[in-house]
Amino acid sequence: MQVPTKNYYKTSPSTMVKELNYETALTIIESWEVLRRKKNYAEKMGRGLFIKFFKQQPDASSVFGFDNNDENIQKTPKFIDFANHFVEVIDQAVQMLGPDLELLTDFFVDLGDKHSKEYGIKPKFYPILGRVLMEQLEEMLGHNVFTVHTKVCWLQVYEDFARDMTSTSIIGPEASFFEHHCQRVIVSK
Ligand code: HEM
Repeated sequence: MQVPTKNYYKTSPSTMVKELNYETALTIIESWEVLRRKKNYAEKMGRGLFIKFFKQQPDASSVFGFDNNDENIQKTPKFIDFANHFVEVIDQAVQMLGPDLELLTDFFVDLGDKHSKEYGIKPKFYPILGRVLMEQLEEMLGHNVFTVHTKVCWLQVYEDFARDMTSTSIIGPEASFFEHHCQRVIVSK
């Protein structure tokens, strides 16, 4: 990934990631580090994530070049490579977390544009990926590490990124997943 340059730094005062603070970023970085220390973490994380994702959004498999009707796609080397590679993408996103994040709105808007035009990612995929990401993190980290607080931090950051990345598209009713999910997590705290 191209490291964001100062050209990407936003000039408008209205940013979607304004709420991100150092503690939130640190919570995500630390929990991701716990995951990274697990054996075969990338394969386990990526496979689990996309098995869940394609189950919830079967038509997405063809966007990624997989045969919708092949029940065994998850065992193919292509799927495993794809899943591993996607975990590197999460790694890159986690590395971007830092005190200057709120300045990167324009970068995320451009990244969203690239997702839409080059990768064929539809806006409706964002809330679904967000949901399965939380499920997979929970499954792999357990409640001792992936506490309610940690989950709220991940949700907040994912939501902020996704909002910026889809700000030029219409997301549709699925987007309310974030509000409902965040509220549920916070209320049950
Ligand atoms: C908040 C949400 C997301 C963030 C922060 C994010 C971040 C990234 C980053 C940093 C990259 C690599 C850098 C680049 O292309 O310049 C990337 C690539 C990619 N992303 Fe996302 N992404 C998000 C959502 C999604 C969603 C919802 C999907 C589809 C389910 C998706 C699918 C992909 C694909 C297919 C690639 C290309 C991987 C490759 O290099 O082959 N992303 N993403």
